[in-house]
Amino acid sequence: MSKKVAILPGDGIGTEVVAEAERVLARLNDKYTLGIETESALVGGHAYDEHGSPLPDSTLDLAKNADAILLGAVGGPKWEPLDYSVRPERALLGLRAELDLYANLRPAKIYPALVSASSLKREVVEGIDIMVVRELVGGIYFGEPKGVETLPDGTEKGVNSLVYTTPEIERIAKVAFDVARKRGKKVCSVDKANVLESTELWRRVVTLMHKDHEEIELSHMYVDNCAMQLIRWPKQFDVIVTTNLFGDILSDAAAMLTGSIGMLPSASLSGNKGMFEPVHGSAPDIAGQNKANPIATILSVAMMLQYTFGAMSAAGEVERAVSEVLEQGYRTPDIHTEGMNLIGTKEMGDKIIEAIG
Ligand code: IPM
Ligand code: MG
Repeated sequence: MSKKVAILPGDGIGTEVVAEAERVLARLNDKYTLGIETESALVGGHAYDEHGSPLPDSTLDLAKNADAILLGAVGGPKWEPLDYSVRPERALLGLRAELDLYANLRPAKIYPALVSASSLKREVVEGIDIMVVRELVGGIYFGEPKGVETLPDGTEKGVNSLVYTTPEIERIAKVAFDVARKRGKKVCSVDKANVLESTELWRRVVTLMHKDHEEIELSHMYVDNCAMQLIRWPKQFDVIVTTNLFGDILSDAAAMLTGSIGMLPSASLSGNKGMFEPVHGSAPDIAGQNKANPIATILSVAMMLQYTFGAMSAAGEVERAVSEVLEQGYRTPDIHTEGMNLIGTKEMGDKIIEAIG
């Protein structure tokens, strides 16, 4: 049975980091005879320029027919003046919704070699290993009613709705408990149940779901407190499960604890099928300069091998190779500290492939 991966590099540094990740995937495909076939397509701003849509039907079809999708990043200043409906970001939201990729896993793990690259003190970040499980196809990102309307007096009204139903909460809570079982066995569910009714429901449903997962320790936290606790003492967290918007914000904060958002991969899953992408964006300021850190995308390949293809040895190999290269002192600009060996995107790809052997 063939295994298909759709490669969607996107815009900005997306194309550069995906090129390196693709090389890593090709190397592993050979070494472990994985039998993976790849096919690329345009997405985001480049797709808009070519086809008038950030998510052309051909790209969506390719994504739907693939077992996994490797995505770079979308967006850039060139496309900011465009109408909301055709902005590059719509492609991401479209892929998530069309493929029902409801479970977004964003690990924030610090590599020992990078502890000094974090903006927080060594004792605060050393050893952190957090998994943010973000609900990805519901909540305020998709809730109805939404939009901007002009009122009779000429003023405007903007509306977005935070909507969650019981099944939506149940399925993401289940993912969080399942993920926690293979890790530190702790889940912290983050909401704003003191103010928002829909997250009061969230809290109730997560608590009910916990009855089937009592070997996992469950706690609840308001999102403002969680933002503070992530910076005060991040080691208290194992798995954080939360809504779409809160997860968007908290995963950026968690990412930065590790020194650079350029290090963090993510998986957006619906069962085994998934889209794998770096947490960072298209970084137009450094695009095309061979400065981007490809590690987040390379580690996204590791997540793909693990979650979609169950190729645990190959996945472990990527993580080992990344650690090794960091231990050797090689750094892209975002994680560079004094005395380390500054290299570019391509060279980082080379080093990691060399370490895979
Ligand atoms: C992310 C991004 C996206 C989001 C944007 C680009 C639509 O910030 O994946 O975290 O808000 O989900
Ligand atoms: Mg975000």
